[in-house]
Amino acid sequence: MNDRPFRAVRVSEHVWWVGAVDWALRDFHGYSTQRGSTYNAYLVTGDYPVLIDTVKAGFKDEMMARVASVVDPKKIKAIVSHHAEMDHSGCLPAVIAEIGPEKVYASALGIKNLADQFHHPYQIAAVKDGEKLNLGGLDLTFLETRMLHWPDSMISYLHQDELVFSQDGFGMHLASEKRFADETEPDVMLFEAKKYYANILLPYSPLVLKLLERIKSLGISIKTIAPDHGPIWRKGLDIVGWYEKWARQVPENRAVVVFDTMWQSTASMARAIAEGLSSAGTQVRMMPLHGSTRADVMTELLCAGALLVGSPTINNGIFPTLADVLTYAKGLKPRNLIGAAFGSYGWSGEACAELERCLKDMGAEMAAPALRLKFVPDEAGLNQCRKFGADIAGMLAARTRV
Ligand code: FEO
Repeated sequence: MNDRPFRAVRVSEHVWWVGAVDWALRDFHGYSTQRGSTYNAYLVTGDYPVLIDTVKAGFKDEMMARVASVVDPKKIKAIVSHHAEMDHSGCLPAVIAEIGPEKVYASALGIKNLADQFHHPYQIAAVKDGEKLNLGGLDLTFLETRMLHWPDSMISYLHQDELVFSQDGFGMHLASEKRFADETEPDVMLFEAKKYYANILLPYSPLVLKLLERIKSLGISIKTIAPDHGPIWRKGLDIVGWYEKWARQVPENRAVVVFDTMWQSTASMARAIAEGLSSAGTQVRMMPLHGSTRADVMTELLCAGALLVGSPTINNGIFPTLADVLTYAKGLKPRNLIGAAFGSYGWSGEACAELERCLKDMGAEMAAPALRLKFVPDEAGLNQCRKFGADIAGMLAARTRV
């Protein structure tokens, strides 16, 4: 058992981490993942072993080696699939074929989604919301978490170890040799957890709040949260408090300035606007799209109070990078934002009107009419920009004053 190149890590009395570390992942369906990720699968060792989730298809051998460092994989009698997305189910059909478990469990919608993705021949049993199963002498209670973040998603609670298998919830994309939150650099973890929330769970924030309330109302003791990505929480479940804050989206006195530029004129405007915002006490996050990804922008937008977007006019419209970010942001539904547009133009100048349409579509309240300047801004133009920023900062300060 102990001659395996990849080995399991003990999480609690009955639970082992048997996942995989994806050090090379840099893009997770359009979300930039500069620190890679992990696909956490778990082995529950009661009277017989149960596998909780699997990993992305290419990492099956790594997971199976970790399993084999604890038990003979053929002894696994049950597999639970909490979520059908391929980073957790990609090797599920191959694992079922290899070990032949007696039972595979998923939510009813999980069964459907697994069938539609893999067109596999296997029977999967449905577990219902609130159902408690005794697997190998240990009790698992399942809670459906529909649309957190897929319709099939569910989590489960292992009573004997007071441990929640939280699936994507409370996760983050962070490849590391460390398995636990209490071993991981706090700033890195806070940043990556925030990025994950902003890019995956944000649109479902009302459901996050309901789920947190539901879990509280169950009155269960939780010692460990074991997500399917990133560190496992076993000491101080700080991430629960982070989720309560992020899900409420209470705006802070912070403005995010997202812009692109052709000949540095819109960039100059952005810099002067930032000066104005900052002069009136607003924190500023500058997001030049030549150096920031859409996922970075969303991370900064989480709990921000204002979104200012700047684009030059190109071919009678906005810069493609702005179109990308605004389309992405609209889908993730940031709330409680005030917004404004700005940009340099040469002759027709349609970009600002298009930016304003995008901001309104996103639900932002317009803070000021767009600021358009022709070609290269002179000193008077830059002073206009500074005032534009300072006025928006004043409005934001009034909204966020407690
Ligand atoms: Fe980590 Fe929704 O998959």
